[in-house]
Amino acid sequence: MNPLDYRRGAVRLRVLVAFGLACMVAAAQAVRLPASAPAGIYERECGACHLAYPPELLPAASWRRLVDSLDRHFGTDASLDEPSRAAISAWLQKHASSDAKAAKPPERITLAGWFMREHAQVVLPASPAGGRGSMSDCAACHPAAAQGRFEDADGEPSR
Ligand code: HEC
Ligand code: HEC
Repeated sequence: MNPLDYRRGAVRLRVLVAFGLACMVAAAQAVRLPASAPAGIYERECGACHLAYPPELLPAASWRRLVDSLDRHFGTDASLDEPSRAAISAWLQKHASSDAKAAKPPERITLAGWFMREHAQVVLPASPAGGRGSMSDCAACHPAAAQGRFEDADGEPSR
């Protein structure tokens, strides 16, 4: 092959690669949520006001209902743009608890039968700042809650 042809080929190849990369970037922007993103989006969007609760703490039906009514979320508005909402909803349901024993999917983790049994002896003390803490604030008693570990509670809220 004539070296000039070879060089032309290499240039064409580089142009093709650059075009391919540009297409990939464009596609990524169009899709907005790469397949691996929901966990990160979940932590950011659903960990803003409280612990990003591990999905396996509620059955899929509970998550679905919760994420379908984010505009009325326990007295607050936690609405999301539709792509984020849909991605989080699918991700939560995929990783949800497979415990289908509950006749009615609980509205809260803290209202689930297993939760009430585990915490039957746990009393929420009045907080020094006035008022009461919330059982929903898992990390107050479970220091490793953000890592999804709940076995090492000391029963004394740490804040
Ligand atoms: C604007 C603040 C805010 C955002 C954002 C938010 N939440 Fe909440 N969430 C709350 C409040 C307030 C409560 C009630 C906490 C309490 O009772 O102490 C709550 C409670 C919950 C509970 C029940 C906890 C329990 O008591 O068992 C779940 C589950 C939950 N949120 C999931 C989510 C998910 C999923 C998202 C993201 C789509 C989200 N939250 C985003 C404010 C928020
Ligand atoms: C006021 C303190 C307190 C709060 C708030 C609290 N827990 Fe607990 N939790 C405990 C105690 C105490 C135990 C029992 C001690 C133990 O088993 O380590 C326990 C036990 C558990 C267990 C069983 C652990 C095991 O290995 O048997 C799980 C799971 C759990 N909690 C999850 C949660 C989640 C999720 C939240 C938030 C929605 C939460 N807890 C909020 C104090 C608390």
